[in-house]
Amino acid sequence: MFQQLKTLDADPILGLMAKFRADTHPQKVDLGIGVYRDAAGSTPVLDCVRRAEQAILEEQTTKSYVAPAGRAEFNEAVTNLVLGAGHAAVRERRTVTVQTPGGCGALRVGAELIRASAPGVPVYVSDPTWSNHVPLLGGSGLRLERYPYYEPMSHQLRFADMLEQLERAPAGDVVLVHACCHNPTGADLESRQWDTLIGTLQRRRLVPFLDLAYQGFGAGLEADAEPVRRVASELPEMLLAVSFSKSLGLYRERTGALICVADTAARADAMRSHVLQIARSIYSMPPDHGAAIAARIFADPALSASWHAELESMRKRIDSMRALLAEELQKARAGADFGFLRTQRGMFSLLGVTGEQVAVLREKHHVYMTADSRMNLAGVMPHNVGYLAEAIATVLRS
Ligand code: LMR
Repeated sequence: MFQQLKTLDADPILGLMAKFRADTHPQKVDLGIGVYRDAAGSTPVLDCVRRAEQAILEEQTTKSYVAPAGRAEFNEAVTNLVLGAGHAAVRERRTVTVQTPGGCGALRVGAELIRASAPGVPVYVSDPTWSNHVPLLGGSGLRLERYPYYEPMSHQLRFADMLEQLERAPAGDVVLVHACCHNPTGADLESRQWDTLIGTLQRRRLVPFLDLAYQGFGAGLEADAEPVRRVASELPEMLLAVSFSKSLGLYRERTGALICVADTAARADAMRSHVLQIARSIYSMPPDHGAAIAARIFADPALSASWHAELESMRKRIDSMRALLAEELQKARAGADFGFLRTQRGMFSLLGVTGEQVAVLREKHHVYMTADSRMNLAGVMPHNVGYLAEAIATVLRS
């Protein structure tokens, strides 16, 4: 039966994580997988999470099933958090929110929903995009197309090229857009560019599928949700994948949500029935623990306040490491302009070097980044930034 299976290459991000863990060099630097790290290199359990978790463990009386849609109070709170309380689409009962196993689960359920509704339509993803978008969406059988987004060597957004490509897309095609903190480039659309993009999506009758995995890491919780709210107001239909892996540090708890916006309440009901059947057929029900924690934090003003402060401090630490690395690279005479590190947002930026240079950084200097030269800036710390900048400068000069 399985004789014909060949061993596959490791996942580009998870394979790198395994290589980093196996490296015993004392100065190794992990700029690979997208997890937050504090100045000591730990990925801490947030204080608000720990407090919510303790209360849940004390009060929980059963581990019985919840539901394919997950927790109702989580879904309601996520909808308000992302779309803003009282959004017209919610008032008009045109939204469906279901808890999913992480943002990945939301992306896959969304892809299956598209396939159930319109099996032939392609999904346009940005070039470049997060490597796992391809198997998550393509694995459902959907065809993927690319739209130009960013030029890594010049660190420029290719917005005009993106629009030109979307102008040629037939009505009904789906466009996946990173809502904030673009992965892997850190280059986000500005407010006016969102207006233009929304105009293009409206005129061409394209369907937006937004991915919101880093809310709070760009300009703050509210500001990062702003484009999502506008898209939900201006377009009749939208899919939105939300992740709490980063914003609540719930990585291993797999806590996310899919929010669907339909043009009518009746269509939203139909969408809900499909989404629930898809969930049932893939994983039956999402894991509960992370969503129980998140729901408790969202409902409790003191825990929410603590979360907002912790998230803000994670965001500020990454921003300060962006500035520090740019400064150290200049000091190390790396010979290029690293100003883009200061203006880009979220965990990631592309260094803009070749795959060979990335391999030299890893093999000679024990600096780990994905082959496209994506750096997780949360891996930069005051104690390693000098070593890191020297290593990059050495590779760039040779
Ligand atoms: C990343 O982009 O590194 C993270 O989203 C983790 C993952 O699952 O790839």
